[in-house]
Amino acid sequence: MTTNPLVSRSLTPTANNLISFNNRDLPTVGTPVLDLQNLSVDLPLGGFLSRARLPILQDISLSVGRGESLALVGESGSGKTTLARAVMGLQAVTSGRVLFDGQPVTDLARLRRDAAMMFQDATASLSPRLTVGSLITEPFRIHRQPLPDPARTARDLLATVGLPPAIADRYPHELSGGQARRVGVARALALKPRLVIADEPTAGLDVSVQAEVLNLMADLRRDMGLAYLIITHNLALVRHVADRIAVLYLGRVVEEGPTAQVFAAPAHPYTASLIAAEPKPDPRQRRADLAIRGEVPSVLRRPKGCEFHTRCPLVQDLCRQTAPQLYPTAPDRKARCHFANQQTQGEHHAVDH
Ligand SMILES: Nc1ncnc2c1ncn2[C@@H]1O[C@H](COP(=O)(O)OP(=O)(O)O)[C@@H](O)[C@H]1O
Ligand code: SF4
Ligand SMILES: [Mg+2]
Repeated sequence: MTTNPLVSRSLTPTANNLISFNNRDLPTVGTPVLDLQNLSVDLPLGGFLSRARLPILQDISLSVGRGESLALVGESGSGKTTLARAVMGLQAVTSGRVLFDGQPVTDLARLRRDAAMMFQDATASLSPRLTVGSLITEPFRIHRQPLPDPARTARDLLATVGLPPAIADRYPHELSGGQARRVGVARALALKPRLVIADEPTAGLDVSVQAEVLNLMADLRRDMGLAYLIITHNLALVRHVADRIAVLYLGRVVEEGPTAQVFAAPAHPYTASLIAAEPKPDPRQRRADLAIRGEVPSVLRRPKGCEFHTRCPLVQDLCRQTAPQLYPTAPDRKARCHFANQQTQGEHHAVDH
């Protein structure tokens, strides 16, 4: 594999503690569990008498195979939560399709059994008045599924996520951050989903607890064949948890490909900038020439041409006039940049240290 000298191979302490999550031995052939086809979402602009709508997600095509894990990465405001909500049927889709097991979703109740959300703020998403035992078996009641022995089901679910049975009698405020996250996982797994959508699964956790949660997710994937859609801005985690990565910018996919390849040689300057901005143990490894400039533009004022051109370190005249397509750059890889094929080969990035 070619390595990109621009990208540090060193791992953060978090990542060093992790067992490998990437698992290419798992078959991902056949119909994808989740298939987004040209998905677009517009939201009302709001305001008195305004009927204008803003494009939030634009023409997103992504799929997650059986037992596969796809990381969705992008700065705040890039549309990650809107995408997760659209998948779960919590957000109306303007155009395009969401297919689950190759079929359009017609039964939302069924979808919410087959696909579970793991929330970012685990403690806040757990009702404070219910015991852990009730919380993790609540999905059975919500979905009117048979639950002959709630105590036993609670014990089994707790064991699955590595918690002792006594935790069933506790309340959420009595749990540590790591325990609360595990309870959130147990609840997500109650109805044996095949896809878990995890929104920042490690945010707000200590480094050692982060590793614990990710190792648990890796075990569950191996044991239950779970597929994951992981939403995060933590690239150190993406390296370890995702087979593939999709990078969003202003609601569009700007790069997609196998994680190892994208990290070794990013094809889009935005991806290269995100990777270059990762904290490095040695500050001399920081790449000032790839530094991303300024803030994400507002969706109210999308730049003309390439929407990344206002921040791109490699901008050319062409970029200000003409919007690039999502070009194939290698098998299984795509990037939305006029010069994507040169980026992957490192021509643009060949800078001496
Ligand atoms: N209910 C809403 N009405 C109008 N705009 C919204 C609404 N929710 C989110 N947005 C806008 O949609 C864009 C994407 O938001 P979001 O999906 O939350 O991004 P992310 O999760 O990546 O931070 C942002 O520009 C945000 O301001
Ligand atoms: S098309 Fe131009 S502005 Fe857009 S990412 Fe590529 S080089 Fe940068
Ligand atoms: Mg969000």
